[in-house]
Amino acid sequence: MEQKKVTIAHLQEKKKNGDKITMMTAYDYPTAGLVDQAGIDTILVGDSLGMVMLGYESTVPVTMDDMIHHCKAVCRGAKSGFIIGDMPFMSYQVSIEKAIENAGRFIKEAGCDCVKLEGGSEMAPVTRAIVDAGIPVCAHIGLTPQTATKLSGFKVQGKDAESARELVQSAKDLEKAGAFLIVMECIPDLVAARITEELNIPTIGIGAGKDCDGQVLVYHDLVGLFERFTPKFVKQYVNLAPKIREALIQFKEEVESGAFPGPEHGFAMKAEEAEKI
Ligand code: KIV
Repeated sequence: MEQKKVTIAHLQEKKKNGDKITMMTAYDYPTAGLVDQAGIDTILVGDSLGMVMLGYESTVPVTMDDMIHHCKAVCRGAKSGFIIGDMPFMSYQVSIEKAIENAGRFIKEAGCDCVKLEGGSEMAPVTRAIVDAGIPVCAHIGLTPQTATKLSGFKVQGKDAESARELVQSAKDLEKAGAFLIVMECIPDLVAARITEELNIPTIGIGAGKDCDGQVLVYHDLVGLFERFTPKFVKQYVNLAPKIREALIQFKEEVESGAFPGPEHGFAMKAEEAEKI
C-alpha cells in the first residue's frame, strides 16, 4: 500500500495527540527508500554526511554542493517521508540574503520539504527571513556540531541553571520566529522535557531523553556502519560493518580460488554459434 506524504500538519497533530515522531538521517537513494519503507516520518539529510559519508573529521567542511548532491538522491528515493535539508556551516551566517538563496536551493534544486539550521536565539532573524520567503525551517539547539569549537568541544549543553534557561529562551525565540520543528542535541533530559512542554511546535531529541515529541539518530550509528566512535546516546540496532567485511573477504577468497563466478552466474551460447567464432 502506498504511504501518504507526511506533512507539517501531520507532525503537529502527532504532538497534539502525544504520538511520537520518528526522524532518521539518510544521504543516498537506497537508504532513503529503506527509511521510507519503515514508515519513518521525517528524513534528515544531515551535514553529518561530512563525517559518515565523506570521511571528514567534522561537519565544518561540508559545502552547499555536497548537500544538494545528497539531498537530490534522497528525494529520488523517498516518497512519503518529510525531507529536511541541513544547511551547512557558513551557508546561512554571512547574510540574510545569502541564507534565503541557499535555503531556496534545497527546495528548488534538490526537492527537499524544508531546511534545518543550527543555533539559538541569535538565529531567530534568519529563521524568520527564510520562513517569510516561504520555506519551512527546523531549528537545532543544544550541542550544535558546526560551532563545537566555540562550545569547547562536543559537550552536553545546558547543564547549569543559567545555560538551561538560555536554551529554553532560544527554543521560544525560534518558535516565535516561525520554526515548525526543533531538534535538541545533547541536553539534560529535564531541560528537553521542559522545552517540549512549553513549546507548541514538536521537539525532536538526540541525546535529550525520552520526553521529547520525537527522536532522531544518525543512520550509520544505528546500523553499525560508522566505526570511528559511538556517542553515548546512540543505540546500535544492528552491527552491519563486520557482516559486510565478512562478505567482502569471502568474495575476495572465492575470486582468488576460482569458486566465483560459478556456471550459474555466466551466460551460455548455442554450440553452433560458438563454433563460428
Ligand atoms: O547532521 C545531522 O545528522 C544532525 C543530527 C545529528 C540531528 O544534525
